[in-house]
Formats: sequence, structure tokens, C-alpha cells
Amino acid sequence: MHLVACSESPLEQEVDFLVLGIHSEEGVAGPMLEVDHELGGALRRLWENGDFSGKSMEAQLLALPGLMKARFLLLVGLGPKDERSDERVMKVAAMAAKKMGDQGGRKAAFYFGSGNVAAGICGAFIGGHGQDLCRTESSLHPLAELRWHGGSDEDCQQGRDLGESVNLTRRLVNLPPNHIYPESVAREMQQLADEVGLGIEIWDEDRLVEENCQALLAVARGSVRKPRLVILNYKGGAEDQAPVALVGKGVTFDSGGYSLKPSDGMKDMKCDMAGAATVIGAMRAIALRKPQVNVIGLVGLVENLVSGDAYKLGDVLKSRNGKTIEILNTDAEGRVVLADVLDVAVERGADRIVDLATLTGACLVALGMDVAGIMTNHADWCQSIQNAAAQTGEQVWELPMFPEFGEQVQSKVADIKNVGNGRWGGAITAAKFLEEFVRETPWVHIDIAGPAYLDSEKAWIDAGGSGAFVRTLVQLVENCASEAKA
Ligand code: BES
Ligand code: MN
Ligand code: ZN
Repeated sequence: MHLVACSESPLEQEVDFLVLGIHSEEGVAGPMLEVDHELGGALRRLWENGDFSGKSMEAQLLALPGLMKARFLLLVGLGPKDERSDERVMKVAAMAAKKMGDQGGRKAAFYFGSGNVAAGICGAFIGGHGQDLCRTESSLHPLAELRWHGGSDEDCQQGRDLGESVNLTRRLVNLPPNHIYPESVAREMQQLADEVGLGIEIWDEDRLVEENCQALLAVARGSVRKPRLVILNYKGGAEDQAPVALVGKGVTFDSGGYSLKPSDGMKDMKCDMAGAATVIGAMRAIALRKPQVNVIGLVGLVENLVSGDAYKLGDVLKSRNGKTIEILNTDAEGRVVLADVLDVAVERGADRIVDLATLTGACLVALGMDVAGIMTNHADWCQSIQNAAAQTGEQVWELPMFPEFGEQVQSKVADIKNVGNGRWGGAITAAKFLEEFVRETPWVHIDIAGPAYLDSEKAWIDAGGSGAFVRTLVQLVENCASEAKA
């Protein structure tokens, strides 16, 4: 997409779409005034008739055959001005881009008032990309040219970097599982690291054996696709500063293993690497924005299938940190993989860890499709995640880590078992399992089973991979950088 920061009058824009973002109490004001005058008062009549009132996510498309240089006018509602935020501007711009994306090759000029420029551009990138990656004729097209009124080149670049990073996460989630498997994800990560200048270590099977990642290896054994553990390294802080670790579950397909899922529960399980994809997208944006802090991104990549050699119920695994794990359900595989990856994060000296995982259906039952569950061993670090999420408008809700939930994963035959007693509180018993592998490190677990993957489209984003929490992770790391400076 060609991206331009512009300052000319809307009347001068030779584009397919003039997109005017209007606040609900504004009436015909700002850039709308000039256009209204040119159209002989048509917009004022529209407003007075109540056919457009600027309420959030409202949209009104008007054709302008020969009336102006622009071919169409798209009026979009930004809601009340005192509610204006990055999130609102991002979603309204995304909605506009999605509407204009029903055909390719289009040029649009956005007039959204002042502020939130990067957020708006980020949205325009998100709205124009969908899940139809394998269709011969795609149904959703990105804009060919986007002109944003009143922004700087730097704002534009920041918005693009963030939007493209969110879209990278979405693309990795949306690509089908015959294309996306541990080695292919590692390859994509190598390419990314070369492009944006991140350090990278790719652990293949031999290295994983040397490193005692027996838990991760056991889950992977059911598939002919070989596992990988990949570590991305971003150095923006002092040499001796402990890094923040972003850890992602990368199960590129989750059949459930011998605890096999029924087809209905399995059909979308290409999404089970969304945690890893979120870490990858966030690391890209971090590398481009260069906050002054050290960050490592670690992803455990496996495919959970069945074979004559797959792990079984009753198996006892020795994890990398030495704890033994009794397997009582091979479909509770994410926590088993993360056990080893979290241990690597601790060994690398991380002083704060956040992991992201499509970990439990129970979290969906508890909080629905749009809200991520967060669980922690450290109130302050959890508050930092909540603050970052509030800034981006991504929704999180803390679930309690009472010790009683931990008792449920105690095992009679090993140090720990990989499921609780029955289904109740399943998101929390999963987190209690993970907690055993972070030692004393401040840690937050984000269960993104709901928001990572959309069953149906929204006005502003196509169905499929959502890229949820890329923006929050980037915000979190930037907040860590400014705290370190203060
Ligand atoms: N990947 C699934 C969780 C999931 C479910 C993600 C729905 C996205 C949408 C995970 O590996 C899983 O199967 N969890 C089990 C755990 C249970 C066996 C303790 C679940 O939630 O049923
Ligand atoms: Mn599973
Ligand atoms: Zn899974």
C-alpha cells in the first residue's frame, strides 16, 4: 500500500474515496463544512434528517458522480469526542478500509481530525486484509493508496509497522496447517529476523534433545513434522539488563492426540499456534520501533497428532527443569510444551515473563470469545499487562490463582499431572500447571483461546486470525522502556 501524509483540502483529493470521520456531537464541521459547501448543503440536510449522526461505527456511503474530484464520500462515525481513543480511531478506520476493500486498486483519503494517526493507519491495514489467503479471487483487498490528512511521515510509518505486524500474526494463523508446521514457522521467523535485524536461535530436534526438552519432544513425537523451539532476541537496552520474555504456544495443529478431538472441535485447530504468532508479530513491531529495553521472544513449535509413537495417557515425562509430568489427557498438550519453553525463558535470565496461549476451551466458557483470561504469580506485573491492554482497548480479565486450584494438578505418580480433577476451573488449573515452571520469576499467562480466532467477521475485521494482543504486547514493552528510563 502506498501511504502518504497529506495536508490538502478534501476538495483537492483525486481519490476513489474521501473518508470523513465525524464525532457525534460535532454536526457539520471541520472538513465536512468544505465538502458540504461544495455539495450545496447536502451534508447538512443529511445530518438534519438524522440520516447520519456520527455515532460510533456508523457508516454512510454517498456516490459523487462528477460533483467532486473524489468519486465517493464515505462518512464514518467516531462517536462522542470525549471517547476518542486509539482503539476507536483504529476500529473505525479498519471498518472503512474493509468496506472499501470489496474491490481492489482503490485510493482513499482519510480526514479523521487531529490525533491517533498511527492507530488509524494501523486500522486501515487490518481492515483491508482477511482470511481468504488461498482463494484464487480474493474477496477483500487492501487499499492501493492511503492518504491521511494531518499526520506526519513518522506517524504514518509507525501505523504501518504496527498494522503490518498485526497482519503478519493474522496471516500465520490463517494459513492452513499443511502450509504452517514447525519448520515452516521457523523458516518464516528466520526470514523476519534477517529483514528487521533480530537475533535468532532455532533449536532443531538434536538441540532439543541436548537441552532436555523432553516434555516438548513427547508432544511432538506423534507427527512426522519435526518440532522447533525458536528464540528471537531484541537488544534495545543495556548489555547487562535482564530481558522481558514473551513466550508463545505454537501448536501448529492440535488434533488432541490419543485424547482425540471430535471433528467439530478440531476443524479450527490451525489456530493453536496463535500464541506463537502473536509473539512473532509483536517482536517484528518491537524491532521496527526500537524501544530502549531488552526483549526475548520464545516459541515452542509442535504438531499434536496420533501415531504408533505418539505420547499416551499414563506416560510420565521428565521436563527440562526436572519436574516429572503425568499425562492424563494428550489434548492438554499446550501446557506440556510451554513447561519447557518457560524454563528456557527463566534460564535466559528473564526478569518478567508473559506467555500467550490458546490454552483452554474452559477460558472461552468463562469469558466468552472476546475477552482473554489473565493469571499471574505477581500482582504488579499483572497490573502492567492490564494497563497496556487498557491503552490499546484489548480486553483482559483476571482469574484467581487460589492455591486450591494448584492442588488439583498434584499427581500420585509424578510431580504434577497435566489436567485438573474434572472440567471446572480448567483455565486456572492450566495456569497453575504453568506456574510450576517459572520458578520465582514475575509471570503473567494470557489465555487467548477466545479472542485469537474469530468464528465470524466483525464490522472492522474479517473472521479468522485476529492478531489480538500484538498491540498490547508492543504497548507493554514500550511502557517497560519508559519506566526503565524514568
Ligand atoms: N488448543 C486447545 C484449547 C482451545 C479450545 C483453543 C478451543 C481454542 C479454542 C487445548 O490444547 C485443549 O485442547 N485444551 C483442552 C484441555 C483439557 C483436555 C484439560 C480443553 O480445553 O478442552
Ligand atoms: Mn489440545
Ligand atoms: Zn491446544
